[in-house]
Amino acid sequence: MAALRAAQLGLRVACVDEGVDGQQRPSPGGTCLNVGCIPSKALLESSALYARIIGEAAGHGIDAGPVQLDVARMQARKEKIVRQLTAGVGYLFKKNGVSFMPGRASFKGKEGDQIHLTVQRKDQEREDIAAAQVIIATGSVPRTLESMPFDQERILDSTGGLALTTVPRQLVILGAGVIGLELGSVWQRLGSSVTLLETRDIFLPEADQEVAQQALKILTQSSGLRIELGIHLEAVEKTTESLNLTYTSGGESRKLCADVLILAVGRCPNTKGLELERVGLAPDGQGRIPVDAHCRTPVPGVWAIGDVVRGPMLAHKAEEEGVAVAERLAGQLPEVNLVHIPAVIYTEPELAWVGLTEEAAQAAGRAVRIGRFPFQANGRAKARGAPQGLVKVIACAVTDRILGVHILGPEASELIAEAVVALEFQASSEDLARIVHAHPSLSEALREACLGVDGRTLNL
Ligand code: NAI
Repeated sequence: MAALRAAQLGLRVACVDEGVDGQQRPSPGGTCLNVGCIPSKALLESSALYARIIGEAAGHGIDAGPVQLDVARMQARKEKIVRQLTAGVGYLFKKNGVSFMPGRASFKGKEGDQIHLTVQRKDQEREDIAAAQVIIATGSVPRTLESMPFDQERILDSTGGLALTTVPRQLVILGAGVIGLELGSVWQRLGSSVTLLETRDIFLPEADQEVAQQALKILTQSSGLRIELGIHLEAVEKTTESLNLTYTSGGESRKLCADVLILAVGRCPNTKGLELERVGLAPDGQGRIPVDAHCRTPVPGVWAIGDVVRGPMLAHKAEEEGVAVAERLAGQLPEVNLVHIPAVIYTEPELAWVGLTEEAAQAAGRAVRIGRFPFQANGRAKARGAPQGLVKVIACAVTDRILGVHILGPEASELIAEAVVALEFQASSEDLARIVHAHPSLSEALREACLGVDGRTLNL
């Protein structure tokens, strides 16, 4: 996005990317397009369709006959979507005049206002390039655990977890964060018995806890995921048949067998091999490249954006930073508001939020009024057969300004957009409550929750 926006604004741009696909062909688009957001959503969609056909079609009066699962075809569909989108990046680069350089870049040094880089191409050729401005957007890599190196056969990272060609019987995922929940949902729907083992004793501590607790209940009771919090993994023994895990939970020692273990224990900024020191840059204590509010590093002419810097590791946050840096390079004065970055977890139901949680509002000593509305009372959600979850709106008790919106329910990823607009425009809950929302629609639940802030919910 940074390359495209900079080129749009008339700058001469080269984008270096080392990503390759399974056949070693250049595959720009980073983690998001290749092994993250997009392939996971493709599999979430396929697995949800499978689960609906098996679990829900009959209730709609549809007898589908014996349902067959072909994981290879499901994976091929996913790959096709990825290929189309990565090819789309190539097309956009051409259209906007960005020179795409497949290869691995590292810093060589700085001379005057020129920053020198080496690009190592796959065919071993090296090319040196220089620029007055460099944007580091190298993203993040899965966090590894020393005691459990990936073998990419039975102990996998998220990339391996998205590429399985058979459905594991027993799948254990270490980490009940975003990746654990999404990957766990995919394989559970396709027939795996899935257990998520999580070290923290609070489920999704970054989410509003009332909503997170409801999510936990639905995911474990209706969706069938097993989620154990507050565990400590002691050992993993590999035998030819299985992986035998020993862990402690609540002071008790427990054992669990798995065919496949996926590690989803967070991601780390990707700075390895960049030779940052050659331009006088060093990562901070958490491995991130230090930047100011405008993504400027301490080295003039070097900028950094996305997962490799502070803030949430989210593609949409990274994109906005990329666009903002490009605009700043072109003399504009954009700002990225890191306070209103929506978060989404694509489970079923989906969980999405923006702004303050009730806990954060309390910790900040803010007096708030809260409105809630369950999807159970929303006609569209009932008709869809997806009445679980709720919308929770947190508003300032003094000004009525909306401070946070938390949605657990169908299409929460889409519904949250209205809340983001409301927060960015500093809307009050009354503002949203007075806006006409289409009926029947899921968005009515947000309006009703806003009405609820003032104790005047209508459909409950
Ligand atoms: P995460 O931080 O969401 O979750 C990792 C979890 O692993 C945490 O709950 C942590 O307590 C737990 N953990 C750490 N060490 C552990 C251990 N040894 N044993 C058991 N549990 C352990 O990170 P995750 O899920 O790996 O995702 C990485 C990043 O990618 C996140 O920043 C996430 O926001 C982003 N992402 C976003 C998506 C989305 O927007 N829908 C989808 C997938 C990833």
